[in-house]
Amino acid sequence: MHVIDVPASTPYRVHIGTRLLEASGGIIASACGGAQAAVITDSNVGPLYADIVADSLKAAGYAVCVFTFEAGEEHKRADTLLAALEFLAEHELDRNDVVVALGGGVTGDLGGLAAALYMRGIKLAQMPTSLLAMVDSSVGGKTAIDLEAGKNLVGAFWQPRVVIADIGCLGTLTPEQFADGCGEVVKHGVIADPDLFAALEQTPPTLQLLMTNLARVEAIVARNIEIKRDVVAQDEREGSVRKLLNFGHSIGHAIEACAAFTIGHGNCVAAGMCAITRAAIAEGACDPDVIDRLTGLLEACGLMTTSPYSAEELFACALHDKKRHGDSIDLVIPRRIGACSIENVSLDAFRILIEEGLAS
Ligand SMILES: NC(=O)c1ccc[n+]([C@@H]2O[C@H](COP(=O)([O-])OP(=O)(O)OC[C@H]3O[C@@H](n4cnc5c(N)ncnc54)[C@H](O)[C@@H]3O)[C@@H](O)[C@H]2O)c1
Ligand SMILES: [Zn+2]
Repeated sequence: MHVIDVPASTPYRVHIGTRLLEASGGIIASACGGAQAAVITDSNVGPLYADIVADSLKAAGYAVCVFTFEAGEEHKRADTLLAALEFLAEHELDRNDVVVALGGGVTGDLGGLAAALYMRGIKLAQMPTSLLAMVDSSVGGKTAIDLEAGKNLVGAFWQPRVVIADIGCLGTLTPEQFADGCGEVVKHGVIADPDLFAALEQTPPTLQLLMTNLARVEAIVARNIEIKRDVVAQDEREGSVRKLLNFGHSIGHAIEACAAFTIGHGNCVAAGMCAITRAAIAEGACDPDVIDRLTGLLEACGLMTTSPYSAEELFACALHDKKRHGDSIDLVIPRRIGACSIENVSLDAFRILIEEGLAS
C-alpha cells in the first residue's frame, strides 16, 4: 500500500494498493463526507466493479446511485455529460455530496467535469481502473469532454478530494489496453527519472508482470504518480513545467488525429516520443544513445515506435493542435534520459523536425 499526498490548491491523497475497491467507502467518507455518492462509470467497468464500490459506499453510510454510460472515447461528449448532470439532479445530489468516477481516463475526465459543473462544483473521488488513468489522468485535476472540432476542447481544472487506485483492477485490462498505459510510464522516465527508466528496461511493465509481481507494478504506478505530482505541484495550470508532460504528444496527437482515434493514445505518444527524439538527435540537441534505449523499452512494452503516417500528413493534423499559439508551438525536446526542455519553435521549424523525426 502506497499513500501519496498531492499539494494542489485543494490538497488530496492518492491511495495505491490492492483490495481498495472494497475499502473505498471508508476512504471516501473520511476524505469527502456527504450523505449521497453518485458513481459514474462506463459499460465495461461498471459490470466488473461498480457493485463492489457501491456496497463499500453503502457500508460507509452513503446512499448510492450509479450512472453507467457507453464505454469509449466517442462517448466523452456533451450528450453523455448532460445525461450525467441530469442524473445527479434527478437523484437530488447536493453540494455536500460526492461524485465517484470509476473507470479509465474517459470516465475520469467526464465524471470529473460533471463534478466540476454540477451546482458549480461538488466533491470528486477519482477511482482509476486503467493503467493510463492511474499513472496520468486521475492526478492533476484536468477534466474534459471532446467536441466535433477536437479532443478535450471543453473542460475545467477540478481537483479530486481523493484518488483510489486498486492495482487489482488492472488484471481485467487486455494486453493492448495495458500496453497503451505504458506510453505515459515510459514518458515519465524520460522527462524526470533515469532510475525509473533503467528499472523499466530491466523489468518491462506488462500484464505478465502484473500476474507474477503485483508489488512491482504497484511500485511502478506509485513512482509515476509521484512524478506527475511533483510536476503539477510546481505548475497546476500548465503555465510552465507542466508542459514537460506533453513530451511526445505534439506528434502523438497528430498521429491520433490522422488515425481518427483508432490507434490508442499511448501507442501514438510512443511513436511521437521516438519521432521527436530522432529529430532532437539530428539537431545535435539530444544524447544519441536515447533513441535505441527508448525504442527498445517501448517495443518491450508492446508499443509502436514509428509513425504510420507521412510527415506531410502529420503536419497537416498538427496544425489543429490546441497547444499551438499562432505561428509557434511549445515542444518538449529530450536531452538525455531523465532531462527534457521546453522550446517554443516556429511552425516551419516544427515541420522540419517532423521530417527529421520520420527520416531515420
Ligand atoms: N485529465 C488528464 O490529465 C488526462 C491525461 C491523459 C489522458 N486523459 C484522457 O484519458 C482518456 C484515455 O484514458 P484510457 O486509456 O483509460 O481510456 P478509457 O477510459 O476509454 O479506457 C480504455 C478502455 O478500457 C476499459 N477499461 C478501463 N478500466 C478497465 C478495467 N480495469 N478492466 C477492463 N476494462 C477497463 C474502458 O472501458 C475502455 O474500453 C482520453 O480521453 C484522454 O484524453 C486525460
Ligand atoms: Zn498523454
